[in-house]
Amino acid sequence: MKGVGERIEVVQGDLTHEAVDAIVNAANRSLLGGGGVDGAIHRGGGRAILDACRKLNGCETGDAKITTAGALPSRYVIHTVGPVYQDGQHGEPELLARCYRRSLEVAVTHGLKTIAFPAISCGVYGYPLTEGARIAVDAVATFLGREESIHRVRFVLFDSVAFEAFRQAAGEWGAGPQDGSDPR
Ligand code: APR
Repeated sequence: MKGVGERIEVVQGDLTHEAVDAIVNAANRSLLGGGGVDGAIHRGGGRAILDACRKLNGCETGDAKITTAGALPSRYVIHTVGPVYQDGQHGEPELLARCYRRSLEVAVTHGLKTIAFPAISCGVYGYPLTEGARIAVDAVATFLGREESIHRVRFVLFDSVAFEAFRQAAGEWGAGPQDGSDPR
């Protein structure tokens, strides 16, 4: 089995273009869409995603739920709800880590092998990038260390600042070259 660092990739790009088993949406508790990556996923995936979300009765912060990806190149969308950053003293770090863990647990439950994450909570929800990246990579790397069924996790960052923050965090786990190649 590949080491943890070899199963983590960090790339700059658009999450909605990822041809993986599941992309993870940075949603809100209603699961009825929004701006940012949530808006991009619903726009790209079409009405089928919203119709599926409507049956889920929302999602608590730190939890994750799965739907079809509609017209998107991925097979599924795993919707998770990150914490709104206040000051880091209101449980935000643990809630953010739980978003990544729960999303990976849902992927494992559905037999999925490749998953792509955005920088959850690091946009509208105001999580500082350096901290948000470290929590994300640590949570994913720790999970991969005990769960071999996930073959590849990609962090897909929309801008160069986020990319650099995640590249540095992933480097501490020996993550491989950031070649951005198709994960299939
Ligand atoms: N691909 C990859 N990353 C993206 C994309 C995209 N197409 N669009 C935006 N991002 C990045 C943002 O630049 C940011 O780094 O995703 C990260 C998360 O930002 P948001 O989408 O604002 O998500 P979040 O901070 O978790 O806030 C969630 O925003 O859109 C609403 O409905 C959503 O209320 C919820 C809140």
